[in-house]
Amino acid sequence: MSKTPEGILSLQTIAMPADTNWSGNVFGGWIVSQMDLAGAIHAERLSQGRCATIAINEMSFLVPVKVGDVISCYTKILKVGNTSIQIQIEVWDSHDSSREARRVTAGIFTFVAIDGDGHKRIIAK
Ligand SMILES: CC(C)(COP(=O)(O)OP(=O)(O)OC[C@H]1O[C@@H](n2cnc3c(N)ncnc32)[C@H](O)[C@@H]1OP(=O)(O)O)[C@@H](O)C(=O)NCCC(=O)NCCS
Repeated sequence: MSKTPEGILSLQTIAMPADTNWSGNVFGGWIVSQMDLAGAIHAERLSQGRCATIAINEMSFLVPVKVGDVISCYTKILKVGNTSIQIQIEVWDSHDSSREARRVTAGIFTFVAIDGDGHKRIIAK
């Protein structure tokens, strides 16, 4: 794995108290939903329309996220098919200048371009 983020910055937010579990760490599910949003932003920009998540693969959580951490989601297109887009999504967190940004998690998400009726549509290349 690279020591710097791969891809483009598609979403940035801050972990809030409501996003934590009983032990004070941020829920993994909250992080996955930020990744989903970041991937959708990139997929919808590329396909010029709506997209739906069809698969999430190869997730791994490396370090815990704390309240107040700045979460940055980086997205990189791996493959564009007829109707689908496979995206590598990395999450990095930073808090203040006391430590360097760290990779929190990474995963491969697949989005399908859909039309207004929710049916798949061809991605123009
Ligand atoms: C997205 C949806 C319209 C796709 O319709 P579909 O007829 O099932 O689509 P297909 O099986 O033909 O697959 C469409 C594309 O996704 C790819 N795909 C399907 N299942 C996949 C999987 N498990 N992993 C990766 N890619 C997958 C196919 O290879 C195809 O890609 P291509 O056209 O680029 O070759 C439909 O599955 C759907 O509505 N799913 C729910 C989406 C949703 O609500 N997501 C939010 C989370 S609840």
